[in-house]
Amino acid sequence: MSNETMRRAIAQAEQHIAQHAPEVAANAKMRQRYHFMAPCGWINDPNGLIYFRGQYHFFYQFNPYSGFWSMMHWGHAVSDDLLHWKHLPIALAPSESYDNHPQGGCFSGSAIEKDGRLYLMYTGTANNGNGFEQTQNIAYSDDGINFIKYEGNPVIEPPEGVPHDFFRDPKVWEHDGQYYVVIGSQKDGRAQALLYRSEDLLHWEFVNVLFESRGEWGFMWECPDFFPLADKWVFLCSPMGAGERTTVYFVGDFDYETGRFTYTVTGEADWGFDFYAPQTFTDASGRRIMVGWANCWDWMPFWKDWGPTYREGWCGSFAVPREVTLADDLTLRIVPVRELGTIRTPDGTDANMLTLADGAETVLHAGDGVSCELQFVIDLASTSAQRIELTVRRGEPETDGTVLRTIFTIDLQHGWSTIDRTESDDWSRGVSRAPLRLSPDKRELSVDVLLDQSSLELFLDEGAVAQSMNIFAPTSANDITVRAIGGTATLLNVHGYQVENISE
Ligand code: FRU
Repeated sequence: MSNETMRRAIAQAEQHIAQHAPEVAANAKMRQRYHFMAPCGWINDPNGLIYFRGQYHFFYQFNPYSGFWSMMHWGHAVSDDLLHWKHLPIALAPSESYDNHPQGGCFSGSAIEKDGRLYLMYTGTANNGNGFEQTQNIAYSDDGINFIKYEGNPVIEPPEGVPHDFFRDPKVWEHDGQYYVVIGSQKDGRAQALLYRSEDLLHWEFVNVLFESRGEWGFMWECPDFFPLADKWVFLCSPMGAGERTTVYFVGDFDYETGRFTYTVTGEADWGFDFYAPQTFTDASGRRIMVGWANCWDWMPFWKDWGPTYREGWCGSFAVPREVTLADDLTLRIVPVRELGTIRTPDGTDANMLTLADGAETVLHAGDGVSCELQFVIDLASTSAQRIELTVRRGEPETDGTVLRTIFTIDLQHGWSTIDRTESDDWSRGVSRAPLRLSPDKRELSVDVLLDQSSLELFLDEGAVAQSMNIFAPTSANDITVRAIGGTATLLNVHGYQVENISE
């Protein structure tokens, strides 16, 4: 009976999508060309990422009805290569007393396969006039497309002392025939992650507080993820109330007996403005793949109106899928998945070595300058410049003299990478900074820049630093230049690529 309500809600939403998606595809100017998007409407977190029966499945927080966050459904798409996507019917829609909060609906969660069945574990938000009352719930599917909500939901309710509106985003995994889930939560105003265990995914027992903040890591951890990497464990989350950090990671050790995690190394999975709520999963080859929402809630000290795209009937995309590995110093290395190589072609600058004189600007080419990739290596040993400045998405001077541009600076003197988007377009703002590790014996620094219609992603130093953000420059702003400041610079292996338009 109750699943009937969900069927009707899904049918209604699908009808809306069928009517509006063609309009969005035809009229929108800021749609991405190779990054994952919904057909129309709003998306935020990646959910339930899984490699199931030979295909990648992405689910996602989805409001099919408008370009704003509200009434979360779970959108669904499948792919053979993490890049070309086929949209499937919505997997979950708000329908039950435990998940039909009219603004909330079905919040984030994860997926797991058990005995050939695909299970989703997600947070339901209830509407009892008391805010977003959160519980954990199960839905399952035998065909990987149509889901049934478990009749015994909710399967986990907030424990004593945990605020009912800070208990969400279950990330589930299996170990030795048992299931474990970590849930973002709060106690006494401080973020914590709770660990539960189950034999069957339906009945859960509390194990322990896996890990908690002393206050320095915020008051709530959204979308906690917890996974083994090499011989360590990684805890990943998007902290609320931890300043400019959008996504942090901790590397350490985990003890199944006590259910406690202790860390020795911490870092940021991405230092840019727009990378939030990432989730990781492994595929058949055992690669650890991370996908993040290419946006962020408004931590910035001004009200965020989500940029120009909602006027086009959509908002939100995913950052390019990234492979995560552990370096010897126990920090993460995060680079675009190698599949990206299958949709790009060499097009533009192709030089083994470029010498930049102090102050002189050099024009670089990478495809159309909009949907493209640019790679080079800074030869630190033969570079005396204090800074290397790369300008992308640069337009012609406008009548009032302004020039649209986004400036990315590698400050070798101070060890910073900055991206300044104050002149990117007439909406974006802010200067993002990330620290670079430039030890005296370091010989080279690699730079990989991915541009798409409305995004910029930077991977520096073999993936030790990622910095991602959205910009909303018109297609005509497509020039790329580079210059050295305060000395000369040598760039090696400078390669420009066009990245194919695979969006529709
Ligand atoms: C993170 C988040 C989650 C929540 C979801 C709601 O971006 O706030 O904590 O489940 O989005 O859409």
